[in-house]
Amino acid sequence: MRMPLIAGNWKMNGSLTLVERFGEAFAEAGLSPSVEVCLIPPFPYLAAAQRALGGTPVMLGAQTLNPQHGGAHTGEVSGGMLREFGVDYVLVGHSERRALYRESDDDVYDRLLAALTAELRPILCVGETLEERDAGRTRDVVLRQVGAVMARLEPAQRAAVTIAYEPVWAIGTGRTATPEQAQEVMSEIRAYQAGFDRSLAEGMRLLYGGSMNADNAAELLAQPDIDGGLVGGASLKVDDFLAICQSAG
Ligand code: PGA
Repeated sequence: MRMPLIAGNWKMNGSLTLVERFGEAFAEAGLSPSVEVCLIPPFPYLAAAQRALGGTPVMLGAQTLNPQHGGAHTGEVSGGMLREFGVDYVLVGHSERRALYRESDDDVYDRLLAALTAELRPILCVGETLEERDAGRTRDVVLRQVGAVMARLEPAQRAAVTIAYEPVWAIGTGRTATPEQAQEVMSEIRAYQAGFDRSLAEGMRLLYGGSMNADNAAELLAQPDIDGGLVGGASLKVDDFLAICQSAG
């Protein structure tokens, strides 16, 4: 049985006030023990989020990390630093990083490896653009992105990775993939993992991301290969995010 994970990616949004509001709301609401929840605010809010969520089961995540341990990398943050702020999860390969900051499959691999070295749990994000989908290349693109990382890992490292399937055309557009579209690709991702190790594939959590909200979450999460969500816009509204967490547990 895979424990669902709902991760809220704030991107470059939010405020200290919002961090406080989330802390209060989650302390009050209580969470089902059968769902894991993770909040992924921008770096400067991690310390405040660690304090505000301290009395709740909500875990902390970061949006990226530098592949290096430290040194002359102005503006960058290492995995070890994130651990000091109680961070458990870290996103790697988000489509915005791939597109806006030119992160290649190799860069994504380096970051994921750095996350594992720092004992963080990487969430590897993959997904096709609309152009790629329309050209019938969804499966090839997604499995290339997955394979570029997973094929280079040791079995024990693979087991620590969560994969988020986020069709680029569904991110921030309000145009969610249908449950069937998401399930189709995510079952391919699981089948690909089964090529390495069947039981690992069975245990691996796969998240869907792309305009998930309080109205469509339950239907998406009911799909056999969708074990949670990576939520952007709807994770900035405390009631919506709570509702999504509740529909997973
Ligand atoms: P969205 O973002 O929910 O706003 O579409 C998802 C993501 O980018 O992780």
